[in-house]
Amino acid sequence: DPAAVDLLLSRIRDVPDWPEPGVMFKDITPLLRDPEAFGTATELLADVGRDASGVVDVVVGIEARGFILGAPVAQALGAGFVPVRKEGKLPSATSAMSYELEYGQATVEVHKDAIAPGERVLVVDDVLATGGTVRATVDLVRAAGAEAVGVAVLMELGFLNGRERLPDVDVHALLTV
Ligand code: PRP
Ligand code: MG
Repeated sequence: DPAAVDLLLSRIRDVPDWPEPGVMFKDITPLLRDPEAFGTATELLADVGRDASGVVDVVVGIEARGFILGAPVAQALGAGFVPVRKEGKLPSATSAMSYELEYGQATVEVHKDAIAPGERVLVVDDVLATGGTVRATVDLVRAAGAEAVGVAVLMELGFLNGRERLPDVDVHALLTV
């Protein structure tokens, strides 16, 4: 739906030189502030789950911005919501997965009892950049014995080729910039 894509694009703000010189930051706060745009994004992300054959049991949202989008998608699908968090934030027993950043490493965690073997999981985040965050999250889902039925992101930064790290899962981006 080109009108929906135009609406979403019109609500993403380019912020030059943030968080450092030379980076053009894609700010989604204007989109979240507009109920029509936020609702459109939620529905289009939920469509990714509806198009996956079979029911989605769990939506995984990735801290922090993936929480904002993943939670309403879970409700729209009648699925549960599971947070994947940065290291050290979850209170109960966790599984962890590390991934490479431009400089150094990062780790994401999920509660060990949050995803059951055989469950069907949709992973939601705002941006696919280098793909490291989604890669680690899909690996956490599979380590739990569950199935990653798809990845749904609002925006893909195509020039970073994050998809190349995700050849084994269906990745859907509402927008490619
Ligand atoms: C950003 C973005 C994605 C991730 C994408 O999160 O929200 O989660 O980077 O990058 P990648 O594809 O290169 O892994 P970030 O950790 O910067 O912060 P957040 O807590 O604001 O979501
Ligand atoms: Mg993030």
